[in-house]
Amino acid sequence: MMRTRPLKVALLGCGVVGSEVARIMATHADDLAARIGAPLELAGVAVRRPSKVREGIDPALITTDATALVKRGDIDVVIEVIGGIEPARTLITTAFEHGASVVSANKALLAEDGATLFAAAEKHGRDLYYEAAVAGAIPLLRPLRESLAGDKVNRVLGIVNGTTNFILDRMDSSGAGYSEALDEATALGYAEADPTADVEGFDAAAKAAILAGIAFHTRVRLDDVHREGLTEVTSADIASARRMGCTVKLLAICERAADGRSVTARVHPAMIPLSHPLASVREAYNAVFVEAEAAGRLMFYGPGAGGPPTASAVLGDLVAVCRNKIGGSTGPGESAYTRLPVSSMGEVVTRYHISLDVADKPGVLAQVATVFAEHDVSIDTVRQQGRLDSEGLGGEASLVVVTHRAPDAALSGTVEALRKLDTVRGVASIMRVEGE
Ligand code: HSE
Repeated sequence: MMRTRPLKVALLGCGVVGSEVARIMATHADDLAARIGAPLELAGVAVRRPSKVREGIDPALITTDATALVKRGDIDVVIEVIGGIEPARTLITTAFEHGASVVSANKALLAEDGATLFAAAEKHGRDLYYEAAVAGAIPLLRPLRESLAGDKVNRVLGIVNGTTNFILDRMDSSGAGYSEALDEATALGYAEADPTADVEGFDAAAKAAILAGIAFHTRVRLDDVHREGLTEVTSADIASARRMGCTVKLLAICERAADGRSVTARVHPAMIPLSHPLASVREAYNAVFVEAEAAGRLMFYGPGAGGPPTASAVLGDLVAVCRNKIGGSTGPGESAYTRLPVSSMGEVVTRYHISLDVADKPGVLAQVATVFAEHDVSIDTVRQQGRLDSEGLGGEASLVVVTHRAPDAALSGTVEALRKLDTVRGVASIMRVEGE
């Protein structure tokens, strides 16, 4: 049965995502009303630049006073797509206080201080939905929060940043260097003028924190996530990965420790076998691989950014929150009951690919192997290639060592000791090998 009183929606932010949300609300109004059981009314749109022309939005709805909008008291749902920590945090908590539930796409805020938001939502009996915060259009958080609520997730492994996936894909497919691939990503509008958040892994780390918290029913903050960007990845690394039957991806990896007593979350470039489903994720697409005890391996794939895909996730949340509102209920809140601590990167166990420049003379391989053995890191394969030195006289070699699984701390100790060997001229690269 359709309610005639509309549900009032306030939009905070009207950029690429916000304007798409408003457009879809208007063009699909009848379908949305039928699915919700009540019509939606866009009751106000808070923006920073009121003079900008916004097609399809009644200018009378535009305001620069977001605080007054969320305090109106008649707003049912606030959609927050302004991003950043403040004023977004205060606006969201104020919205809860004044009767509204919230749909947010704000990964930075959720990763930095989700606890404050969840506590405020619970205190006031409101919903906080945020599907759009991770992997754009891909339905991922709801499946993790709801569909897998009866299972035990042990690992989440994903490509959650489209810009960096585009860069690495170009480096892999065309042999381009990092700077050239970044320039192409910028020209095509994937990378922003300041690409730091993407290429240094901050964006992916925020998403990893959110995913780990939901997957393991604990609290994981941005600071808990080990983060390495892709600015150091070279064409040589990509070529080396190819020789091993791998490709390089910037991965967000959230894992439950083998003893089940802690979790880890990390973002870094890694080699993955070409046979792994994540290896075939091209261009700016996202994909997340979830390993759960009963379900087995699941993969979620699709566009992870952009106005319409992100708006799709926001609208899905809007419909869910409105349905809850009409039914007089709320959806699932934060589930952080396990209180599992987040271990440091040193405790992560994985495989490594290490490229060394060494002197090519008797005993060097044995010396190098001894250092690995002393740190309890087992070698899987070694490949050596001799080459001429700068005077064309030979006597140098590239040594590529791939290890079996070892703790990150042991590998760091190994590398530190290798650097001290006279025969090791340099450590050209260290890359983790995942997905095997
Ligand atoms: N800049 C992100 C990406 C999208 O490239 O995937 C927003 O999180």
